[in-house]
Amino acid sequence: MDWGLENRLARIIRKDGRTVMLAVDHGYFLGPTSGLEVAGKTIEPLLPHADSLMLTRGVLRTSVAPDTDIPIILRVSGGNSILDKELSNEEITVGIEEAIRLNVSAMALSIYVGGEYEHQTLINLSKLVDEGEKYGIPVLAVTAVGKEMARDTKYLGLCCRIAAELGAHFVKTYYCEEFEKVVESCPVPIVIAGGKKIPEKDALQLAYNAIQRGAVGVDMGRNIFQSKNPVAMIQAVRAVVHKNKSVEEAYELCL
Ligand code: R5P
Repeated sequence: MDWGLENRLARIIRKDGRTVMLAVDHGYFLGPTSGLEVAGKTIEPLLPHADSLMLTRGVLRTSVAPDTDIPIILRVSGGNSILDKELSNEEITVGIEEAIRLNVSAMALSIYVGGEYEHQTLINLSKLVDEGEKYGIPVLAVTAVGKEMARDTKYLGLCCRIAAELGAHFVKTYYCEEFEKVVESCPVPIVIAGGKKIPEKDALQLAYNAIQRGAVGVDMGRNIFQSKNPVAMIQAVRAVVHKNKSVEEAYELCL
């Protein structure tokens, strides 16, 4: 790896080897997701508590002040809406020059292993890694899971390993039973998505379990911005990720 790429990655995964990424990219296929209807309003109070921000260029340009000092993870894949029957038909939606102009710290792209357009999304990843490596921009592979697929150790292990083999610099996936096996067989760092909104304590437990089993952090969205108190929730997630607090201790911060 080169210095620029390592430097960008180090801005996301902090000195303690952990990270709290705030995911607010949902609108790229879901439109005005609950809690993100006015993205800027949701994002602004959370910024001081996030290690990085994952979003699309549209929301970045319109809803984040250019003097904001936070590493940006730019979503660069898409091309579908929630109304499409087949969500795996994604292409790369942002060119590398645009990512450089936007001064991003990483680019994120979904892969759909086992999906109808699996091949296309894996080639998208490979091409993005080639482009990213030319300019020192790391790539986050997001393992998207079709509705009919089980989020189990075998499947998620397969997705993460393929992502790493194709050159992803870090991977975002879902938590599962025997998560340590997924981590063990993936040679690059893993962060977990939060998934659908669940009670705060359960979401903290999810983050705790993932960290204990080897994730470097979370890339969490709905369980933060759909919480009754998003700022308290992200602080509680930080306590688990960066301060090794127990679920009980972190949950205190939400009350
Ligand atoms: C999904 O494709 C997006 O990348 C989301 O950012 C991701 O699912 C993480 O958000 P959440 O914690 O809401 O699942």
